[in-house]
Amino acid sequence: MPSAASDPSTAPNQAVAPAAVSRLPPRKLSMALVNFWLDAVLLVTAAFVGWVTVVMRVVFPAPTFAAGWSLWGLTYNQWHDLQFGSLCFGALVILLHVMLHWNWVCSVIGAQILHLRRRPDEGLQTIYGVATLIALLMLILAGVIAAIVTVHPAGTP
Ligand code: HEM
Repeated sequence: MPSAASDPSTAPNQAVAPAAVSRLPPRKLSMALVNFWLDAVLLVTAAFVGWVTVVMRVVFPAPTFAAGWSLWGLTYNQWHDLQFGSLCFGALVILLHVMLHWNWVCSVIGAQILHLRRRPDEGLQTIYGVATLIALLMLILAGVIAAIVTVHPAGTP
């Protein structure tokens, strides 16, 4: 183990050239730290969506009877908007979370499920990712359209 005296970075009397100081390597952004903070935001968002949902279910009466009720200055409809907004935010963070782990997802599918010899390259993985996202969005859109065209508004048979 090198002693502190022989270590140029710790020796007290040794002059450090200004050029050496100015050329310190730039601090790399650690992906583990990015993942950590994104996961923390994800956890808080999921907990928040859950909390808003429980409040709406437990504190307010059924939505059809909630007209005129309010909690901490927000009406039922405003709580409903808060729920939808936080859900959309959570969906965006989950998208980012999965994008950061997409390499891992492709590796598992390629090696463990499809038993491929070689993993698809980065470009192909991105194309699969975008295609998966478009397919998911289409599925959600189809479900919403099906609901819109088959809903029974009040007063209709
Ligand atoms: C409450 C929501 C979630 C939280 C708090 C969460 C947290 C985490 C944490 C702590 C990790 C390991 C650390 C890291 O590499 O980032 C991880 C990995 C991962 N998560 Fe999530 N996650 C959540 C939701 C999801 C969802 C909804 C998906 C997929 C649709 C997902 C997919 C993955 C994948 C693929 C990995 C990598 C697995 C691995 O490396 O073994 N996560 N997540």
